[in-house]
Amino acid sequence: MPVSFDKVHDYMLSVTPRRDATLMAMEAHARRHGFPIIGPLVGRLLFQLATAISAKRVFELGSGYGYSGYWFSQALGERGRIVMTDGNPGNRLLAEKYFKKGRVRTKREFRVGDALEIIGDYDGPFDIILNDIDKHAYPQTIDLVAPRLRKGGLFITDNTIWSGRVYNRTRDKNTLGVIEFNRRMYADRRFFTTILPLRDGLTIGIRR
Ligand SMILES: C[S@@+](CC[C@H](N)C(=O)[O-])C[C@H]1O[C@@H](n2cnc3c(N)ncnc32)[C@H](O)[C@@H]1O
Repeated sequence: MPVSFDKVHDYMLSVTPRRDATLMAMEAHARRHGFPIIGPLVGRLLFQLATAISAKRVFELGSGYGYSGYWFSQALGERGRIVMTDGNPGNRLLAEKYFKKGRVRTKREFRVGDALEIIGDYDGPFDIILNDIDKHAYPQTIDLVAPRLRKGGLFITDNTIWSGRVYNRTRDKNTLGVIEFNRRMYADRRFFTTILPLRDGLTIGIRR
């Protein structure tokens, strides 16, 4: 029987438990403003992966107002550290508001600017690097991330099915960026990579 991914998605949402009051408020903000957060299905996966590898150091390229960072912080706890980045200063203020509301004790930095430049200020090693910036820039992230991830660390990139545009071969620059990124990740011997067809797709490479 053919599987409809939209129906799988809806089914998964229907069995997903409610989140804490802060995450629910952040999700409501995303709905009100049409802001593209990773959402609860992917948020839970981030929490699981961070917990599974006992992550303590996380770096995010493209943090928005902190929704994905909040999920990570729940797994990192007060002994963990997260560096968030975003080009929009307003997002840092919002993230701080939500992190305070949720009484998050994870050590954190939120840097405003171009994530591709900011990551150069950090040697790592990180346990997890999340990539959720503008899609045309995805191919540039690989050589920046590889030297900063520990062996066994995870490089997690969101939106890599890109609403199906990757297989329709749409020719805009963001789609071409995602297609090229996936091709390079599978070919790169520094990573062992799989695409998970969860929500809009995640490319997950484990650093070898
Ligand atoms: C999809 S949203 C991030 C959502 C966030 N990861 C979450 O799920 O809560 C993408 C964000 O990346 C930021 N962004 C895009 N390109 C960037 C870049 N090169 N450097 C820093 N931020 C960038 C945008 O301002 C936007 O807020």
